[in-house]
Amino acid sequence: MILVTGGAGFIGSNFVLDWLAAGQEPVVNLDKLTYAGNLQNLAEVQGNPGHHFVQGDIGDFDLVRGLLEKHRPRALINFAAESHVDRSIHGPEEFIQTNVVGTFQLLEAVRAYFAALDAQEKSRFRFLHVSTDEVYGSLAKDDPAFKESSRYEPNSPYSASKAASDHLVRAYHHTYGLPVVTTNCSNNYGPYHFPEKLIPLMIVNALAGKPLPVYGDGQQVRDWLYVKDHCSAIRRVLESGRLGETYNVGGWNEKPNIEIVHSICAILDQLRPAAGGKSYREQIAYVADRPGHDRRYAIDASKIEQELGWRPAETFESGIRKTVQWYLDHTAWVENVQSGAYRQWIESNYQDREASAPHRSHA
Ligand code: NAD
Ligand code: TYD
Repeated sequence: MILVTGGAGFIGSNFVLDWLAAGQEPVVNLDKLTYAGNLQNLAEVQGNPGHHFVQGDIGDFDLVRGLLEKHRPRALINFAAESHVDRSIHGPEEFIQTNVVGTFQLLEAVRAYFAALDAQEKSRFRFLHVSTDEVYGSLAKDDPAFKESSRYEPNSPYSASKAASDHLVRAYHHTYGLPVVTTNCSNNYGPYHFPEKLIPLMIVNALAGKPLPVYGDGQQVRDWLYVKDHCSAIRRVLESGRLGETYNVGGWNEKPNIEIVHSICAILDQLRPAAGGKSYREQIAYVADRPGHDRRYAIDASKIEQELGWRPAETFESGIRKTVQWYLDHTAWVENVQSGAYRQWIESNYQDREASAPHRSHA
């Protein structure tokens, strides 16, 4: 048995689906089901006796302690978090509550559980904390990519809260001997990605004939990794990662945002040509930039490759094509997540930006 937190979100649900499809041991899936959590992501494993879903908060010490005592997992993988930078700018409190206080309570529950395990159980147990490259801050154009030894310099309330959680996880290893490993991954994309993030937002807006809002000059660089590759890296680290270590996970695939948007438009132009022979590119609209927008992230993933033999299986070209096709094939899922609450968010994030958009030509 393993315990997964946040397993109804984007990466967590992909992880649970892949884990069970590979015939691994049963999963207890603890998720609060915030706006980002969606049981439809887990429809494939509904009724599977290997999947036990529990709605609840990682910050609920008694609940987590009870689940640990009852199911006695050999590992806990912590995906649960508030994860969207723009939302953290609009309202940072939830980020502190879940990412910092929630992780603290989770660690406390695990510490109590771990202390009572026998020696053999202790030697097997792992706490794997899923984190982000954003904790390292922003790079200039020619700076070397982030290494595990790079300084933490978080710039948004989101990345600051993730940095705080990483520090707590580290401290529980050094102080209490908790067997932890942390992964710091670059931007993911793929199936079940909530359409508030760049790639799914561009796909669903393009198909709906809406503007494709590119922040600032669109030259911000991110490293992109197909979500299934992130999941395989996590499995690898769980299996063989060294205790107390951190592993950077990335796709060796740095691209400016505008190039990502152009790629999506080109694939859609092929797979679902718009009426009148127009390219989806014509929908690109530059809008006001994100405050404190990090210019560039880049991951040096050579440690995980050299120590654990992990490399991504997908190229960006293969992964983005699969992703666009997935959204074309799952219109019911998209419609379902675009509920009233989603529409409110889109309005509050984009209305003012359009009003103060720099006047620039499209594409
Ligand atoms: P997501 O927002 O899609 O999913 C988060 C999940 O956590 C949701 O199901 C939500 O309901 C759940 N959750 C939120 N607060 C909770 C709480 N207090 N208790 C229990 N469950 C709670 O996020 P994601 O993109 O799947 O990211 C998962 C993890 O990976 C996060 O820790 C994130 O920081 C990290 N990460 C994400 C990316 C990325 O590109 N998406 C990259 C690197 C790291
Ligand atoms: P996002 O998917 O929110 O991930 P993160 O901020 O964690 O990297 O954004 C990816 C990049 O795309 C980031 O530089 C911000 C930019 N972006 C836009 O240009 N327009 C948008 O509508 C969104 C959501 C993001």
